[in-house]
Amino acid sequence: MAFTFGAQGFILLAFVASFWVVSEARTIVVGGSEGWRAGINYTDWALKTSPFYLNDKLVFKYALPSDTSIAPNVYLLPNLLCYRKCNFRSAKLLANETQGSGEGFEFVLNELRPAYFACAAEDGRHCSEERMKFFAIPRRHPN
Ligand SMILES: *[C@@H]1O[C@H](CO)[C@@H](O)[C@H](O)[C@H]1NC(C)=O
Ligand SMILES: *[C@@H]1O[C@H](CO)[C@@H](O)[C@H](O)[C@H]1NC(C)=O
Repeated sequence: MAFTFGAQGFILLAFVASFWVVSEARTIVVGGSEGWRAGINYTDWALKTSPFYLNDKLVFKYALPSDTSIAPNVYLLPNLLCYRKCNFRSAKLLANETQGSGEGFEFVLNELRPAYFACAAEDGRHCSEERMKFFAIPRRHPN
C-alpha cells in the first residue's frame, strides 16, 4: 500500500516536473560566460545552444567602451541575405554600446520566425571579419 502510494506520488511529481521544464521560458546568456564580444564563434554557440523556444529570453552582456576596447552593439537584421552580407542598411538597433553592461540587454524570442543578430561595431568589421553574428529560430514548446 505504502509502495503504491509512493510510486504514484513519484509519477505525479515527474509529470509536473517535466511539464514545468518545457513550459517555463528560459533565460539564455548569449555566448555563455564569454558574453557578447569579438573573437567568439557565435554560429557554433547557437548550434550548441539550439533548439531555441518561443519566449526564450536572450541576454547580451558586454563591457562598456574604454580607452583600450571598442564596445559592441546589437542589431536585428531583416533577413538572411542581409545577415550573410553583414548589410546593416535596414537593420534595427536593439542595443547600443552602453546597453550591454550590468544585467545586459534582454531580447525575447516572441515571434515564430528567425531572428538575425549581429554586431555592427567598427563599420561592420565585427560582423564581416569577426563573425559576431548568429540567428535563432524559435520553435513552439512541445506541449
Ligand atoms: C564556426 O562554427 C561553425 C559551426 O560549428 C563552423 O562551421 C565554422 O567553420 C566556424 N567558423 C570559424 C571561423 O571557425
Ligand atoms: C544608449 O541608449 C541609452 C538608452 O536609450 C541612452 O540613454 C544612451 O544615451 C545611448 N548611448 C549612446 C552612446 O548612444
